[in-house]
Amino acid sequence: MKDWKQINPEELTDNVFKLIGKDWMLITAGKQDDFNTMTASWGGMGVLWHKPVATVYIRPTRYTNEFVEKNEIFTLSFFEDKYRDALTICGTISGRDEDKTAIVGLHGEPLPDGGLSYREARLAISCRKMYQDTFKPENFLDSGIERNYPKKDYHNIYIGEITGIFLAQ
Ligand SMILES: Cc1cc2nc3c(=O)[nH]c(=O)nc-3n(C[C@H](O)[C@H](O)[C@H](O)COP(=O)(O)O)c2cc1C
Repeated sequence: MKDWKQINPEELTDNVFKLIGKDWMLITAGKQDDFNTMTASWGGMGVLWHKPVATVYIRPTRYTNEFVEKNEIFTLSFFEDKYRDALTICGTISGRDEDKTAIVGLHGEPLPDGGLSYREARLAISCRKMYQDTFKPENFLDSGIERNYPKKDYHNIYIGEITGIFLAQ
């Protein structure tokens, strides 16, 4: 078992814009024998309904979306830069077609609170789903947003309560 140190949200020193937007993350849902994961660079963290929350945006076409749909928990996993190629592959091919984590050499590793992350991760965040929705194009206030959706596959939005933040030891 990997050694994780749990910290409070206030103790997280990473810059969230760099963490998500530049370093990228894996969104993972499911159990060790039945899970899927995908790379994401859009998302956020903050406070809502008196709780620390993370928000992810998943197009309905992603296989990962099925796993986030049917599981109460999803996790966000962050890696050192040497895993950039692995994250690129996990963001290019689908778990419908390939065993992505096996291909890139990532090993599923349970978190102390039951979520699933990776032996190779440096930081993992467990989220319990609180809210979901789908972007409605009629609510877009900026006409440029629609350009992100030539296939009209508007993202599903999942807001999860952050239930655990774990640093690899
Ligand atoms: C850097 C990067 C960031 C990505 N960010 C997102 C994202 O935030 N939301 C999303 O739906 N897809 C995103 N993707 C695309 C998915 O990771 C990609 O379609 C993946 O193959 C889906 O795998 P799946 O079908 O196994 O779920 C991103 C891809 C890359 C390379």
